[in-house]
Amino acid sequence: MAKIIAIANQKGGTGKTTTAVHLASALAAQGKRVLLVDADPQANATTLLGIAPESLATSLYHVLIGQVSARESIVQGPQENLDILPATPELAGATVELFELEDYELLLRQALEDIKGDYDFVLVDCPPSLGILTVNALAAADEVIVPVSPSPFALDGLRQLVETLNLIQQNLDIPTAIRGTLLTMHERNNRTAMRVAKELWRGAHPVFEVIIPKHPLLAEAPFINRPVVITHPESDIAQTFHALAREILNEGTGNPAPEQVRYGASGE
Ligand SMILES: Nc1ncnc2c1ncn2[C@@H]1O[C@H](COP(=O)(O)OP(=O)(O)OP(=O)(O)O)[C@@H](O)[C@H]1O
Ligand SMILES: [Mg+2]
Repeated sequence: MAKIIAIANQKGGTGKTTTAVHLASALAAQGKRVLLVDADPQANATTLLGIAPESLATSLYHVLIGQVSARESIVQGPQENLDILPATPELAGATVELFELEDYELLLRQALEDIKGDYDFVLVDCPPSLGILTVNALAAADEVIVPVSPSPFALDGLRQLVETLNLIQQNLDIPTAIRGTLLTMHERNNRTAMRVAKELWRGAHPVFEVIIPKHPLLAEAPFINRPVVITHPESDIAQTFHALAREILNEGTGNPAPEQVRYGASGE
């Protein structure tokens, strides 16, 4: 039965899609059966995996409104073991339409029920908002990964996400937990990046040991529409995502101490 992990932070541009796609690609390359669900009307994850949203007859939108099953909308990704439940811009309309449906927070959870047995991991790439699509993703998920980029707003996004998770726990009785916060676009010599890192390490949530550095190959990936894990499998950044996948597979909770110690001498 798949573990369902939402990748969420309502602040825009924190590396959610980059993390979702590259973690999915690394897990698939390590032999895990992975489904990536693109829950963002921007369809960036769909595009990054080489699928043109305009070429699709159905997408997550049609699944959420109950027109087709998830299995009918799933398409094959660019590598073995990697499938996608894609997004199309129509998903933006879902934000209004879905409110009219019964149990509208649980539509994704119900849609994934049928196909959970086909995968080891289902990763859900969330949009930069705490709207109905993110709530559906959080309510469907067992765990959440929160990418945090070097910006104080990304930390605000984490705080607001925690409040939303609390509401989901209280109102829907679903115990979705933060699996870890993930430092993204990190630069050791950048004071803001180090401040954000130190806040996370001192904070209440687990932090992944793996840190995603700022890296030109990740900035280029959206031009090529292929994850770096398959275009540059030997690169240091592809290996970083393999290490993140291993951290997930080893059920690591993320331990801030070693990085804090390592950075201690030269940080700030
Ligand atoms: N570690 C990195 N190094 C360099 N560029 C990066 C890195 N991570 C992401 N990027 C680039 O930064 C931009 C934003 O990243 P991404 O799309 O993953 O963020 P996001 O949180 O999904 O954004 P949104 O909130 O709009 O969905 C993209 O152009 C991406 O290629
Ligand atoms: Mg995104």
